Amino acid sequence: MEILGIDIGGTGIKCAPVDTERGVLLTERQRIDTPKPARPQDVAEVVSELVRLFDWKGPFGCTMPSVVRHGVVYTAANIDKSWIGTNATHLFHQQTGLPVDVVNDADAAGIAEMQFGAGREQQGVVIILTFGTGIGSALFVNGILVPNTELGHLEIRGKDAELRASERARIERDLSWEKWAEKVSEYLQRMEALFWPDLFIVGGGASKKADKFLPLLELNTPIVPAQLLNDAGIVGAAMAARELV
Ligand code: BGC
Repeated sequence: MEILGIDIGGTGIKCAPVDTERGVLLTERQRIDTPKPARPQDVAEVVSELVRLFDWKGPFGCTMPSVVRHGVVYTAANIDKSWIGTNATHLFHQQTGLPVDVVNDADAAGIAEMQFGAGREQQGVVIILTFGTGIGSALFVNGILVPNTELGHLEIRGKDAELRASERARIERDLSWEKWAEKVSEYLQRMEALFWPDLFIVGGGASKKADKFLPLLELNTPIVPAQLLNDAGIVGAAMAARELV
């Protein structure tokens, strides 16, 4: 099946047609800067520009860095607050005239990783965490997604975990890998105590430098880097839209 995948992030909106049976991009992806401010209508215009760029006429899937239930955006930790309450599916459909499915970004990355990446054939409880501007989470039980977990907002030492342990926190506070790994360890240890997962998969921007910090983590649970790196969101968005075909 060929479905267009669009990954909406805080800095860029990335897009490519995906072969959903093989989990690969069919052409090179295109990227347009996320508009500033990134209000719903501004983002919808970029989405429709990308759809036109690929001359796409079929269904497409889209990620959002927020809780998305039945197409409606419920949270906006790192995006414009005017998204809250917006029916993104409806908005993108109106703008493009095409059938669309909208899902949380970490859930999309997780769907792709479980099918084609580090989570292939993994049974039990698997938690995928994306370390980027925020911390996204996707929880799988025997390969089935529990959608919209927001484990990046677990409170650690009175603070949102993503404010202490995201990739952005590392860069903005100029933390050494050792210092940052301490914060990530503390966060993941809390997750271990609450969920007792069989496997952690680390995705997002930080996964490209996994060798710098994974060996520093102090955990009892196996932890591996994501394999799809930049493309996981696009592939997962397209996979989530398969039911529209
Ligand atoms: C949001 C999540 C999102 C994550 C990664 C968090 O701040 O609340 O919905 O998955 O960032 O973008």
